Amino acid sequence: EQLRTVVQQMPKAELHIHIEGSLEPELIFALAQRNQVKLAYGSVEELRAAYAFTDLQSFLDIYYAGASVLLQEQDFYDMTAAYLKRAEQDNVRHTEIFFDPQTHTARGVPIKTVIDGIHRACQDSPVSATLILSFLRHLSEEDAFATLEEALPYRDKYMGIGLDSSEVGNPPEKFARVFAKCRELGFHLVAHAGEEGPPAYIETALDVLKVERIDHGVRCLEDAALTGRLARERIALTVCPLSNVKLCVFERMEQHNLLQLLDAGIVATVNSDDPAYFGGYMNANFVATFEALPLGLSHAQRLARNSFSAAFLPAQQKQKFL
Ligand code: ADE
Ligand code: ZN
Repeated sequence: EQLRTVVQQMPKAELHIHIEGSLEPELIFALAQRNQVKLAYGSVEELRAAYAFTDLQSFLDIYYAGASVLLQEQDFYDMTAAYLKRAEQDNVRHTEIFFDPQTHTARGVPIKTVIDGIHRACQDSPVSATLILSFLRHLSEEDAFATLEEALPYRDKYMGIGLDSSEVGNPPEKFARVFAKCRELGFHLVAHAGEEGPPAYIETALDVLKVERIDHGVRCLEDAALTGRLARERIALTVCPLSNVKLCVFERMEQHNLLQLLDAGIVATVNSDDPAYFGGYMNANFVATFEALPLGLSHAQRLARNSFSAAFLPAQQKQKFL
């Protein structure tokens, strides 16, 4: 209907997308063949059938296995170019893309290969695209420090630092020192918090890591004081509705709390997280959410506006996209 057209045509910014999560099964198989990598699945259909997740970890296991086909700079380029093409089709004008270097350096891929491939695709796209290097929180802070050191020669190619992977049991404060270092270096800071983890993780992400945005953050509503603070301080949440349902954060989309977040005055945004695994890119996330929840035209416009206001862009450049 009309809403679908409005969603399609609205200029949007995507602030929560893991580039490794944009790797479609067809591309996984093509790259596996190109690189002579053996997969645990016999066909695209068999792989897709394995995408039945019960929680975050059940997804991460398959997501890291899928990324094992990425070896050459061209592989990282092709993956990123494919995502940017989909983003362009969804009228995404600006995107801030996470990449997980440790997933690749642990397999012996040089960090230069990873960064150069992803960055070159960003430069070749008409969509404005910047990069956020994310540390894997199931690994040690020492490992994060080593990754930062390896990545610093290429620091002009990414503008932010993030924190992702298995949340529960790996609180933000585990990375206090490395985030302090990244802050000193002048990077923008974000962290996944309050996806599966408790509201306390959102608080330590803000107070200890000093992040500027919270990725997911949907569990904040369990703490009224925190909810008020997020609204008052205009700390944006990068919410990923299809992801939340696929990973059983909410049983059904009808139970998603996006409207409550907006009603609480929080700067919430809609994003795709890992679109190849969760059943859709940017507009699919909007459409699924708007079909299930009592949201209207004004909410759609507010979410689009929020996405630019929360973006790490100079004010003048944001204007250009609206
Ligand atoms: N890595 C990729 N997607 C993620 C998510 N939704 N949460 C934590 N780590 C991730
Ligand atoms: Zn994520």
